[in-house]
Amino acid sequence: MSSSQEQYKKLQNDIRNHDHAYYILDDPEISDGEYDALFQNLLKIEIDNPEWITSESPSQRVGTKPETDFVSISHRKQMLSLANAFNEKDIYDFHERIIKNLSDAPKLRYFCEPKMDGAAISLVYENGILIRGVTRGDGTVGEDITSNIRTLKSIPLALKESNDAFPKMIEVRGEIFISKVDFLNLNSAAALEDQKVFANPRNAAAGSLRQLDPMVTSSRPLAFFAHGIGACDGSTFTSLEELFKSFAGWGLPVNQLNRSVDSIELCLEYFQEIERSRDKIPFEIDGVVFKVADIAMQNNLGEIARSPRWAIAHKFPAEEATTEIVGIDFQVGRTGILTPVAKLKSINVGGVNVSKCTLHNIDELQRLDPRVGDQAVIKRAGDVIPKMIRVIPLKKSRGLSVSIPKSCPCCNSKVVTNSQSDWHVLSSDNKLLKKFSSLYEANEYIENHSSQGLVIDEKKINSPFIKCSGDNLCPEIIQGKFTHFVSRKAMDIDGLGQEILATLIQKKFVKEYADIFKLEEHRIQLASLERFGEKSVDNLIKSIRLASKVDLFRVVYSLGIEEVGETTARNLAMHFGEFNELSDATFEELLTIQDIGPRVASKIKDYFSERGNQEIIENLLPLLEIILPKSKDEEGSKLRGLQIAITGKLTSMSRDELKDILLENGAKVTSSISKNTSYLVAGENAGSKLTKAKELDVKILEENDIGSFLNDPKKFF
Ligand code: IVH
Repeated sequence: MSSSQEQYKKLQNDIRNHDHAYYILDDPEISDGEYDALFQNLLKIEIDNPEWITSESPSQRVGTKPETDFVSISHRKQMLSLANAFNEKDIYDFHERIIKNLSDAPKLRYFCEPKMDGAAISLVYENGILIRGVTRGDGTVGEDITSNIRTLKSIPLALKESNDAFPKMIEVRGEIFISKVDFLNLNSAAALEDQKVFANPRNAAAGSLRQLDPMVTSSRPLAFFAHGIGACDGSTFTSLEELFKSFAGWGLPVNQLNRSVDSIELCLEYFQEIERSRDKIPFEIDGVVFKVADIAMQNNLGEIARSPRWAIAHKFPAEEATTEIVGIDFQVGRTGILTPVAKLKSINVGGVNVSKCTLHNIDELQRLDPRVGDQAVIKRAGDVIPKMIRVIPLKKSRGLSVSIPKSCPCCNSKVVTNSQSDWHVLSSDNKLLKKFSSLYEANEYIENHSSQGLVIDEKKINSPFIKCSGDNLCPEIIQGKFTHFVSRKAMDIDGLGQEILATLIQKKFVKEYADIFKLEEHRIQLASLERFGEKSVDNLIKSIRLASKVDLFRVVYSLGIEEVGETTARNLAMHFGEFNELSDATFEELLTIQDIGPRVASKIKDYFSERGNQEIIENLLPLLEIILPKSKDEEGSKLRGLQIAITGKLTSMSRDELKDILLENGAKVTSSISKNTSYLVAGENAGSKLTKAKELDVKILEENDIGSFLNDPKKFF
């Protein structure tokens, strides 16, 4: 057997094991996205090597073997599965195939439905009475779960009389599912009682259906939507619109998000719409389904490889994936905070490869209790950084719980709790008079009541963050501070990556920020260092020179003052206009600035009152040419009051550059579109944001408009 054929056999075997874990144990080891990828891979190999296919290949059957605890029942008509589409091209191909096979394609309508992430069942009604409920099983034979199904309030035991007469016999097909909220409640109740938690709502639904005791099923919050029919004696439907109307009339629950459309383009719009509102939909869906609405057309199209030719599932890119935890360690950031980070077996989540995931702090670490060798479910929605949702301990003998370090993994200094304090002002007889979140406010209060013998008491607040006490002696903290200083949103110096910075720090070329702007003096020594050549030193010097002409807010942000992010730095720069005004500002003045409260104000005051920081700044400022913000009443307020969003690819500048220009002119730049958005700047390949902006009547600016918009925004009002 060739090695690629061996790999093919192994792939078959892996898929079989995953099928077992998923269908029989209700306890999958990988996410749906990964399973789909494995299956697609298998199909691809089989297309290239059809002679390898044997009847045991997972591609040769749908679903899996029924469990033996339940009585097996043959479906009167096979329960098919859906072919999957992962992009627009797949959908256009599907549409083309249909048109090619139909003579009356112009009248083509599609019925669009969310693809429920639940368990498929078949309900047999005879003369309107529920006589049997069966799981899908392998599509041909399922399990008799009638007693369990009869406990579900959402499934009528008898169909309601309506305008549409019941067929003599009908197999109603649909999905059993659990809403997101019910799933969370179910799992937290299970966890409280030390019972097994379910990996996802679908497994919870499937597991609940296959309980031997119907009382257990009845205690589970199972819901149902009908989405089709199997065998039917005496049917009169000519379209899915009619069928779903009858379902509703008979009291069968149908999804309110279903919609009939008359073009494939509208199908794609439906996909985008549902994908956009996915978070707000109260149950899990993993895509949408498009079905040819006309039943006669469906019959003409028929089926292929146990999937109907008349329907397709358009899947969302998987946002959740399951992978193995290969390590957990603590990373030291520029503020000294030790962050637990899980190293993962690399996995693709929503189109991005993820190989590590922050666990934020000690509370989160203890809540998740991840251990090396466990599986972890990782979620990444949109641009959001990956988050560990839960841990699935697969092996009985798990690794050890992670212990909280007592000393810094980098410099060995003691680890302390990064505690915050409240400041209590006590009367002379020790009664609490007032609480403050900063020492400044407490002091001020005392000064105003100086005759009364008041005292201040520091009360530490519990914090889930731990910190290296090494401060400026810890190499990781130093490296972190410089990395922040040169980063894109700070001083934006190209050519100072992690390794180069580390060398410069280690060889003592760079001890404080000012040294970066003096590197030019060491041009010759630098060029002789490993990893540096004359050319790269030249480039580095060039970008340092460029960066020395810099906006005030960038200087403020680059100092890395605790609690001062990019927006606060901009607000500070705009308010004070000059560096010295900011460093000399009083606590009270800081409090008058937008979004600055006592805690942030005291961090700023603390920073500027430290002698070491004053020296760093004194050495740095003379080497910079600081661009001061335009005063509020001139240029800078041109776009005041406007909310602007940016989407698509711009060609003349980056989106960040445009964002800077808009912010400098007083606009608020938002990442999402709402009815409050004033303009959307739409670049090339603008997608869902553009559609939404049009829906909400938001004014659209093209890239070409930007220049004249900035010159005279009023022209565009
Ligand atoms: S129609 C012939 N509609 O997806 C078409 N299926 O692989 C059969 N599903 O087993 C199914 N939502 O469990 C259809 N709106 C929907 C669906 C849906 C979820 C599931 C169903 C089926 C699987 C198809």
